[in-house]
Amino acid sequence: MSTVTMTTTETAQKKALGYKTFSIGQFKFERDEYFAHIHYPGNGRHIIPIDAFLRSLMRDVAWGFFYGTVNFDSVFGTVNHYGTVDMFIGLLNEAYRSSNQHYVETFESKDLKKVFEGMLEDWTNEGFDPFAAPDETGVPFGAKRGNNLKAIRRERLVAKRMVGLPNDLTYRTDEAGNPVNRQFKDVPQDKPEVHAEPGFEKDIHAFNMFAYVSRSDVTWNPSVVSCVDDSQFCSTTEEHILPITHGNDRVEWFIQASDEIIWDIEDGKTGKPRAKVTMRAGDVAAMPADIRHRGYSPKRSMLIVWENNDGTLPQRYASGELKPYPVEF
Ligand code: PHB
Ligand code: FE
Repeated sequence: MSTVTMTTTETAQKKALGYKTFSIGQFKFERDEYFAHIHYPGNGRHIIPIDAFLRSLMRDVAWGFFYGTVNFDSVFGTVNHYGTVDMFIGLLNEAYRSSNQHYVETFESKDLKKVFEGMLEDWTNEGFDPFAAPDETGVPFGAKRGNNLKAIRRERLVAKRMVGLPNDLTYRTDEAGNPVNRQFKDVPQDKPEVHAEPGFEKDIHAFNMFAYVSRSDVTWNPSVVSCVDDSQFCSTTEEHILPITHGNDRVEWFIQASDEIIWDIEDGKTGKPRAKVTMRAGDVAAMPADIRHRGYSPKRSMLIVWENNDGTLPQRYASGELKPYPVEF
């Protein structure tokens, strides 16, 4: 059978499934029952399982390409330059690089965002929520079946100052439609008592962050719960696998607030394994600026990600002005 015949048959099958094909620059994206197919110049082709692809795509869209690199897997991903974004095959994979098989294109962030949003919308079937834990959602496989706009149009929650302050993110409650998650039934839901000195009522605030986090219906999606200048405290509930391998462009701190996450740490540029880190409740770790990491959470757990939003940092780390780690022992 000739290659041409095979391609034609394959395309006809894909058309019958009802999914749209998406293109930007010289990249072309197609989906079938089980996979996302990424085509790039030179007859290049990469395949990612559709469940993993949609979960990664959801994060990349919701986080506006995030800080630094979002690796969907060891081959495909995006690098945020805050205004433009590189989309790549093999850029951060030693084998692709050393045999010159990598491919990169730079896009205006808003243009790539539009394509990613369209793809996420068209390729996410009814009943599949890319933000949900696998045990709390349906399957993404098969021919096109409705959509799930409600799930994929959730935006990342970002407090201006702190959850619960006037004109800021509100508390999560049963009445507001945020029940306590099945795996956090043991988390106390009481409120802190705040006794301000007269005249300081507007300057002091506290809320039960454990209760707030226990009511999150999404996984691996940090919400900014408090913000002081560039210091962002982002709490999140984790279950199963972080859908992306995050390549840092600055130091990022993790505080494990409950249960346990196991992290794979690799060199940010080559993907060579650097460390395995098991974090249990109360553990604190700094993720260096030159690594990438992916977490595994066997049971739903609470994590605080502490981000530094200072826009000068990527360049200062990349130039070597700052060491990639925050402490020397
Ligand atoms: C991270 O890449 O640092 C990250 C992303 C999402 C999470 C937790 C950590 O939920
Ligand atoms: Fe990270």
